[in-house]
Amino acid sequence: MDAIFAPTPRIDQYLHEFVAGLSLPENLREAIRYSLLGGGKRLRPLLTWHCCEASCGDGERSLPAGAAVELIHAFSLVHDDLPAMDDDDLRRGRPTLHIHAGEAMAILTGDAMLSLGFHVLADRTEPSLAIRLCKELAVGTEQMIAGQVYDTLGGLPAEMSEVDRLRMMHMNKTGALIRAACRMGAACGGADDRSAIMQGITTYAEAIGLMFQIVDDVIDVTQTTERAGKRTNKDASAGKRTFAAALGVDQCRRLIAELESRAIGAIWPLGSSLLRLRDIATMLASRSV
Ligand code: IPE
Ligand code: IPE
Ligand code: MG
Ligand code: MG
Ligand code: MG
Repeated sequence: MDAIFAPTPRIDQYLHEFVAGLSLPENLREAIRYSLLGGGKRLRPLLTWHCCEASCGDGERSLPAGAAVELIHAFSLVHDDLPAMDDDDLRRGRPTLHIHAGEAMAILTGDAMLSLGFHVLADRTEPSLAIRLCKELAVGTEQMIAGQVYDTLGGLPAEMSEVDRLRMMHMNKTGALIRAACRMGAACGGADDRSAIMQGITTYAEAIGLMFQIVDDVIDVTQTTERAGKRTNKDASAGKRTFAAALGVDQCRRLIAELESRAIGAIWPLGSSLLRLRDIATMLASRSV
């Protein structure tokens, strides 16, 4: 398992240097540093790194893409926590950015990180790859925002079953950025869009992306706030639509195991370089933070 997290210090160093070099007001740079680098698992840049390596690339080449996805993810968390959204006061074990620096700064920091995600790609990857990566990231970001609209404001087709609606919401709000992280990593490693490796990684990413949010819903009802580093036992009282509420925890665990098998099945035929991705799927299926 340690091998999964081995690139984390390098990813953090890259993000630190990137933020230090920004020509922005110091208070904004500080707010970006606070929300981007204060805690967090760095799952998405780790996926970008390992999908790059699984596609025969050196993980170093994935760093701009990993930074881009983490910037969009951090933006999504800062805005997700705002009073108009989930109204949360704790994130990654610390006060949320709007509690720490005020609501205006939180809105503007999210805006800045959204732009910086694309800026880092345009600046630090070669032009033909940059166009591909920007498109992947744009699709992931737009779907994440659509998912947040389903979650917060509704709009899911009424004729769908409750489980299908949950699936659609989760695949958008959380799955889409995880899918982008994996596909961008594969592209950095040299995988062609129509290659077997890209197809396998895409199916894998869609399975772990949906699984990740189902696990998040389970964490809300099974873990303490201290362990999770964010308020738990909150979704039901906030009237959130979740897998845990719709199916119960036991049924969720069965679905999580099914998605883990689907993810591993998709990459298994692609060879031994993908073993690390298998370990990530297993780790995500049993995580408690
Ligand atoms: C939390 O994501 C928000 C969801 C999409 C469920 P993570 O659990 O990856 O959060 P950090 O980055 O580790 O804080
Ligand atoms: C968040 O879903 C998804 C995004 C930030 C896009 P949640 O609202 O369930 O995430 P947490 O539980 O606050 O981390
Ligand atoms: Mg939310
Ligand atoms: Mg939330
Ligand atoms: Mg949640």
